[in-house]
Amino acid sequence: MAKNPSVVRRLGALQSKVAAWRATGERIALVPTMGALHEGHLALVQLATRRAARTLVSIFVNPTQFAPNEDYARYPRDQRGDLAKLAPLGVDLVFVPSAALMYPEGFATSVHVAGPAEAGLEDKYRPHFLGGVATVVCKLLTQCRPDIAVFGEKDYQQLLVVRRMARDLDLGVQIVGAKTVREADGLALSSRNAYLDAGERAIAPGLNAALRDAARRIAAGGDVESIMAAARAGLTRMGFRVDYVEARNAETLAPISEPRREPIRLLAAAWLGRTRLIDNIPVGTKS
Ligand code: PAJ
Repeated sequence: MAKNPSVVRRLGALQSKVAAWRATGERIALVPTMGALHEGHLALVQLATRRAARTLVSIFVNPTQFAPNEDYARYPRDQRGDLAKLAPLGVDLVFVPSAALMYPEGFATSVHVAGPAEAGLEDKYRPHFLGGVATVVCKLLTQCRPDIAVFGEKDYQQLLVVRRMARDLDLGVQIVGAKTVREADGLALSSRNAYLDAGERAIAPGLNAALRDAARRIAAGGDVESIMAAARAGLTRMGFRVDYVEARNAETLAPISEPRREPIRLLAAAWLGRTRLIDNIPVGTKS
C-alpha cells in the first residue's frame, strides 16, 4: 500500500516546504478541494502531477461560500479516506488548514468579484458562493504560491471567476481547467451525489442528457432560446426543480447574441429533493 502523503496544518510548515521546492526551481501545482474526494477530484490531482514536479492538495470546507441555510454542517467530511485516495497519486503535501487559520478573529477582508461572477447563474441562486470561493482561493494561492492551480470545469462559473481573479490581482499563477469526470450514465461526479436517494439517483442523469440533447440541437442550427426553454420544461417534467438552464458565451458567460459565431456553453442547476445538482457542457466540441 502506498504511504499516505504528509499533512500540514500550519502556515509555517507549509511555507518552509514550498520555499524548499521553489529554491530548487521545482514547478508547484495546487489542487484546492473541500475533501470527500471522488474520481473527479483525483483526475485534477493526476493532471497536476503531470504538469508539475510538486503537487499540493488543500482540503478545507470553506464556511464563507455556504449560505446559512445551505449544507455546510452536513457537507461530507472524510479525511482518512481522502488521504488514502491521494496516497497512490504522488501527492507531495496535503494542506488542511483550520477555520481559525483561514478566518482569524477579526477577519474583515474579502475579494469582491464581478464580470463572470455577475452572470445571473450561480450568483443569482447562491449569492454567498462566488465571493466566498474567491476569498478562500485567493488566500490559498497566496499561502501556497503555486505556479499552476487546477480547477474542474464541473464548476464552470467558479473556474472563470478564479481565472479572472488570478489575472486581475496578478496572483502569478496559471489557472488550469480540467474536464468533468462523469458516471457511465452521464451524471457528473459530485460529493453531493451522496445525498441522492435511489429514486433521485435514477432521475439524476437526466440533467446531463437534457444538456447533451440541447447542445446537439443548437449545433444543428436550431433556435437557442426555444431549445433552452424546451430543456427547462423537459427537466421539470422529469421531476427536477430548475434553478437555471442557460446557453451562454463560453468565455464571458454573457447571453448569446450571435449563435453562429460565439463559443457556447450550456449551464444548468436543478434540484432533486434536497439535493442541488449542477452541470455544463460545450456546444459543438466533445466534452
Ligand atoms: P470541491 O467541490 O471539493 O471541488 C474541488 C475541485 O474539484 C473543483 O475545482 C471542482 O470543480 C472539481 N470537481 C468537482 N467535481 C468534479 C468532477 N466531476 N470532474 C472534474 N472536476 C470536479 O470547488 C470547490 O471544492 C471549492 O469551491 C473550492 C474551489 C475548493 C474553494 O473552496
